[in-house]
Amino acid sequence: MERETKILKEKILRLKEEKDVLILAHFYANSEVQDIADKVGDSFKLAKDAQNAKNKIICFCGVNFMGESAKLLNPDKKILIPDIEAGCPMADMVNLDDLDGIKERYDDVAIVSYINTKADVKSRSDVCVTSSNAMKIVSALPNKNIYFLPDKNLGSYIANQIEDKNFIFHEGYCKYHNFVEHEEVEDLKNRYGYDVLVHPECTSQVVELGDCVGSTKALLDYVGRTKKKGYIVCTEEGILYQMNKLSPDSEFIIPSSMKPCEDMKKNSLENLYRVLVDEGPEIILDESLMERASRPLKKMMEMS
Ligand code: 13P
Ligand code: SF4
Repeated sequence: MERETKILKEKILRLKEEKDVLILAHFYANSEVQDIADKVGDSFKLAKDAQNAKNKIICFCGVNFMGESAKLLNPDKKILIPDIEAGCPMADMVNLDDLDGIKERYDDVAIVSYINTKADVKSRSDVCVTSSNAMKIVSALPNKNIYFLPDKNLGSYIANQIEDKNFIFHEGYCKYHNFVEHEEVEDLKNRYGYDVLVHPECTSQVVELGDCVGSTKALLDYVGRTKKKGYIVCTEEGILYQMNKLSPDSEFIIPSSMKPCEDMKKNSLENLYRVLVDEGPEIILDESLMERASRPLKKMMEMS
């Protein structure tokens, strides 16, 4: 088995060189995929890497909206995705109809889309954000009203820190982070005395228990800085691979109510190899949609 994996990795690396491919992987991808990637990061850093890429092809080992964002930011590149079915259930919670009438209903309103949205929703948004830049971007917007979608939890987290704006939330959520049980986290905290790391897609009751609250990259940086005996990690388990590398002597505990993201786990060495051979599935977007959907993303890049 180990020998087979080694051969597969060699084949991937050979194809990557031959075809001039940049492999990007999110922190939630399987460890062997993170290992072989050129760059591993949070959704913001990977969007930036995609925007600056000079390679002919980008292969995005994450979920669909990440591949779409790469295409929107670097439209001349071929963007491959190992499993086209790897979506984000939170992104699927927004319908275009949800945006109908928002501009008429609220005066001086900005439609702020989490990057976890599909291109058609982005095309009707004023600006995009990720969990690493949402505070900075929303605070800098001149608008009085903020329609924040889809994540009600990330939305509330930033709204609680910005006093001079009125927030209207879409009712979306991450089907994993939203169900982390605060009672369980509190129990673990009392039992072990470890610091609690929380992604803001968790509910406000879990956020309140956090010693560090932030994007996947912010949580990793905290581990790298503090290197404590242990941590209670309220985000997807894929991140443990990098946390262990940063602080190998620490113990990392994921609450049992935090389940793995099934879509992120669709990225494997096998389908990474396949997509490089076939040069597909590829992210294809309609030209006029790309024109409209890239605007809020580029605005996010400028404001970050
Ligand atoms: P990050 O922006 O922190 O990488 O989070 C992306 C995501 O999908 C979290 O569930
Ligand atoms: Fe989407 Fe949640 Fe998976 Fe992140 S962890 S990709 S928000 S379903």
